[in-house]
Amino acid sequence: MWGGRFAAGPSAIMREINASIPFDKALWRQDIAASKAHVAMLGAQGIVSAEDAAEIASGLDSVADEYERDGVPEDWDLEDIHMTTESRLAALIGPVAGRLHTARSRNDQVATDFRLWVRDAMDQADAGLAAFQRALVDRAEEHAASIMPGFTHLQTAQPVTLGHHLMAYYEMAARDRSRFADARDRANQCPLGSAALAGTGFPIDRHATAAALGFDGPTANSLDAVSDRDFALDYLMAAAQCALHLSRLAEEFVLWASQPFGFVSLPDSFSTGSSIMPQKRNPDAAELVRGHSGRIIGCATALMVTMKGLPLAYSKDMQDDKPPVFEAASLLALSLAAMTGMVAETTFRAERMRAAAENGYATATDLADWLVRVRGIPFREAHHITGAAVKLAEQRGVALDALGLDDLQAIDTRIDDGVFAALSVEASVAARASHGGTAPVEVRKRVAEARAALARD
Ligand code: ARG
Repeated sequence: MWGGRFAAGPSAIMREINASIPFDKALWRQDIAASKAHVAMLGAQGIVSAEDAAEIASGLDSVADEYERDGVPEDWDLEDIHMTTESRLAALIGPVAGRLHTARSRNDQVATDFRLWVRDAMDQADAGLAAFQRALVDRAEEHAASIMPGFTHLQTAQPVTLGHHLMAYYEMAARDRSRFADARDRANQCPLGSAALAGTGFPIDRHATAAALGFDGPTANSLDAVSDRDFALDYLMAAAQCALHLSRLAEEFVLWASQPFGFVSLPDSFSTGSSIMPQKRNPDAAELVRGHSGRIIGCATALMVTMKGLPLAYSKDMQDDKPPVFEAASLLALSLAAMTGMVAETTFRAERMRAAAENGYATATDLADWLVRVRGIPFREAHHITGAAVKLAEQRGVALDALGLDDLQAIDTRIDDGVFAALSVEASVAARASHGGTAPVEVRKRVAEARAALARD
């Protein structure tokens, strides 16, 4: 393909290090689509004859049929998917195939193919996130009033509703979707026609190829267009953020499935047994989602490091852009599917959660709030009085609302038996009906908004 000025062929090692076909064959659909758009434009502009353009286009269809049927052949001598396709085209239609590469370079070709691939990956991530959100909303509605301990520092803090906890992940997923959408908007410019780096002297129509491939328009600077991998980094960073969210939920499932917590029993479909300990039911899928997030973050880091020192325009280092993106995309798709399945199928043990909320003095803040609200005591003083009540309950090994009125009055005479109504976990969550709060009424309101948003997808 470039043998004209070379006396000898590449060494075996050169062929191996140079070849990207083992991984970039994944771009074959995009490569065919971009070549078809290019040759149609060459024909329309009279840069190649209409007959040649038609012959090349139908030859490309035949190559695509072969790939679909038999897979893409991997010949290292042909380096990459672009040369593999062109060489197969030449074998099928003869020397006219050589006209396809007019006014084009592999540099704008790969930038275009890869953008198309990443754009699809963004759409897939969005669809995966939408399914995840639907599962969260379903379970949140079911458990809008189920009470569990809310934690800070992983110490029991205040009662919350399970529905509220699940909807927190709905919000994270919504931001993840907006990150992918935002990245997609920015990526949707077509590099094709930037040629090697400087543009071309042929009278091409870049607006036509951009439109044919579903881009918003052509890129504005040919040097930038062949050098830019921001679109892949935007994807990887959105993927890393999304994986990080999935990993936090996965971690909670691992914790909640442990015997001391016992908040959930994970479905058989997402657990494994142990070959030695018959009682075991391991949360492997959740652990792997947690693990995969590390690999996805690694993919984002890998491409940032690849790109950071490259002068304009194309350098072969950039061939290494694809493996981390492909890896991240398949790990993310699996992670999203696994978390969606776990959310949909997990049994939440609402009674255990409720008991844990009752055992951890989770309503201590409600006692302090009651002293403020009903008795007009400054919050700091109320906090101090409540601390004494918790200390006494702890000494006796009982819940706050199991202390007698005389015990509470011995701590502070302003307490009367009206306080007990405020000390139940139900009263505690029902009271927190501020916008975005944990009260069942607020959770149901947000669930309804979420359903409406998902219906508009
Ligand atoms: N296989 C190459 C890549 O993935 C295609 C671009 C090759 N361009 C070049 N000037 N050698 O980056």
